Amino acid sequence: MIDQITVDKVLETANSQIVEVVSDYVTLRRRGINYLGNCPFHNEKTPSFTVSPHKGIFKCFGCGEGGNALNFIMKHDQLSFVEAIKALGGKFNIHIEEEEYSPEQLKQKNERESMMVISEYAGKYFSKALNETDEGKSVGLSYFRGRGFRDDIISKFDLGYSPEKRDALTNEAVKQGYKLEYLEKTGLTIVRDDYKADRFRGRVMFPIHSLAGKVIAFGGRILKTDKKTAKYLNSPESEIYHKSRVLYGIYQAKQEITRHDMCYLVEGYTDVLSFHQAGISNVVASSGTALTPDQIRLVARFTKNITIIYDGDPAGIKASLRGIDLVLAEGMNVKVLLLPDGEDPDTFAKERSEEELTEYIKEHQQDFIKFKTSLLLEDAKNDPIKRAQLIQDIVRSISTIPDSIIRSVYVKECSSLLKVDERVLVQETGKLQRKKLEENFRRNTTSNERPVNYQQQPETPSPNQTVTNHFELEEVEVLRFLVKHGEKPLSGLTDNGEDITVGQYIIHELKQDDLLSTNPLYNQMMESYEPVCADQSVIAQKFFVNNSNTELSKLASDLIGKEHILSRIHSKFGIVTHEEEIYHDLVVKIVAELKWKKVKVLLKEKRSQMQQLDVSGDHDKMMELLQEINTWQQVLAHISKELGGRTIV
Ligand code: CTP
Ligand code: MN
Repeated sequence: MIDQITVDKVLETANSQIVEVVSDYVTLRRRGINYLGNCPFHNEKTPSFTVSPHKGIFKCFGCGEGGNALNFIMKHDQLSFVEAIKALGGKFNIHIEEEEYSPEQLKQKNERESMMVISEYAGKYFSKALNETDEGKSVGLSYFRGRGFRDDIISKFDLGYSPEKRDALTNEAVKQGYKLEYLEKTGLTIVRDDYKADRFRGRVMFPIHSLAGKVIAFGGRILKTDKKTAKYLNSPESEIYHKSRVLYGIYQAKQEITRHDMCYLVEGYTDVLSFHQAGISNVVASSGTALTPDQIRLVARFTKNITIIYDGDPAGIKASLRGIDLVLAEGMNVKVLLLPDGEDPDTFAKERSEEELTEYIKEHQQDFIKFKTSLLLEDAKNDPIKRAQLIQDIVRSISTIPDSIIRSVYVKECSSLLKVDERVLVQETGKLQRKKLEENFRRNTTSNERPVNYQQQPETPSPNQTVTNHFELEEVEVLRFLVKHGEKPLSGLTDNGEDITVGQYIIHELKQDDLLSTNPLYNQMMESYEPVCADQSVIAQKFFVNNSNTELSKLASDLIGKEHILSRIHSKFGIVTHEEEIYHDLVVKIVAELKWKKVKVLLKEKRSQMQQLDVSGDHDKMMELLQEINTWQQVLAHISKELGGRTIV
């Protein structure tokens, strides 16, 4: 954990120098008071990516991505909050003070860190052995070169070589002061009572990197063809390496995956290497293990589109079929490309130029229905039972897709391709879906709890848990004011003649009548500002943009980015001069308008409750409701007065 003071310092420094932060990744050109460049988050030819140095935020008008310097680094390098703070701290030479850990946390953290450190060391050791020792050069390097791998690829993936000698690495590491304990825990050394030996000997080494680029494990390939020994030997599972959650090459690919909004999925280490060598870098490998949901979710952080490229042999086909349903179930789009039998992506890419390869993929990749159909239809053509099975099979895949619109698109395609009545397919997918829902329902006993600390609006929550907000427009406008003008003084609004701030006014007005939002983030925005809202020296915009809650800072940047869209209320003043000059009147109006709308809905709800009460029924309840209606009517009258007696439809 990093202490708050450090976080604040890093945020303030980085945001005030956001141009410098972004410039590490994007070529920016000055345009008036802002800077302009090509957006790194989507493919574009004309720049629509803007950085505002004085606001400390960026915004892409093409894809909508926006936020402060921290949001940028987190999104661009796919870092966690802590990782991003550390990265920015490093850039601006801010010492990161970490908070105390509990002894148990500390032990675990130290252990993980020690394992990372030793893995990093081993990676360097293997790489040095490959590039700088006679044995490594004559055996390892010549092997890689013999397979046609270029030096830039060997270095991009930090490839290495483990010497033949039984304890070469172990000896050297211990001599350098590394602990045997961690050599053993990472699986680099095998420790028995009577001997210690390196796990990897006489192999070419493929370091496996975490998303953040740390070495966490290795794959080692034998050089001789020996039927008895497994071709690849991998690090065992450990505290820092969970095979099912890692994809080989993700670190080297993540940026390109985002840029192309697409990811190729191959099977092996060398497949990844050869694709990079051919100029295609948005590629990862499941490394021989069967694809897992965690691995798919890892890709999902960067794109929703996966193309599976496996060998054309029966094993490859089987793995593709399995992969398809897994990817679909994660709500992602999947295509499949089968290579000619006998080829794997490595050999295939080596024989082709980047253009040829891309062209081939474009021509031959199929969506999953075409893939399954082309695979099985030959067989099923004249056999009604096999045909029915094929249809069932495709229907099952379709029913795993979470999005109903995408489901119906595929139903259409399947219907025309296999000449089955669409209604039948809809019925069948529906059946399977219901079955799955029932299963989920039985597993999920906890109900969706709705927030209780504010007045609820009369609507039913949609099944995916997002509550529709009927006051979105007005609430956003009020929050935008809070961010933009929060610390500014308002006079003439209190009985004692003292000034209050815009922030105080907004928070007080909405709280006193219990009119907070259905959107928890909006409420959080107000709550976080409340403790400082009376302090005119706390500049609201800075407070929010530099906020260590990344959701809040992102929302704030979004709101600031919306500035140019003038609300309906503004235009009612006639030609708008500058918001700065009339914020005083505006804030009263927009708060009143929001409250007015909310109270109207509330009143309607109370009245309908009233109507539903039986005349002879609960007298107390009726009195209570009457009382409430009366109060809300007074509030409404008061608001109307604030709105200047305007009739609002
Ligand atoms: N694999 C493994 N252990 C094995 C065999 C394979 O971990 N004994 C993993 C490796 O990650 C390998 C992938 O499965 O890259 C695919 O295996 P395979 O197709 O047999 O190897 P290739 O990637 O083609 O390796 P090479 O080109 O070096 O022969
Ligand atoms: Mn191969």
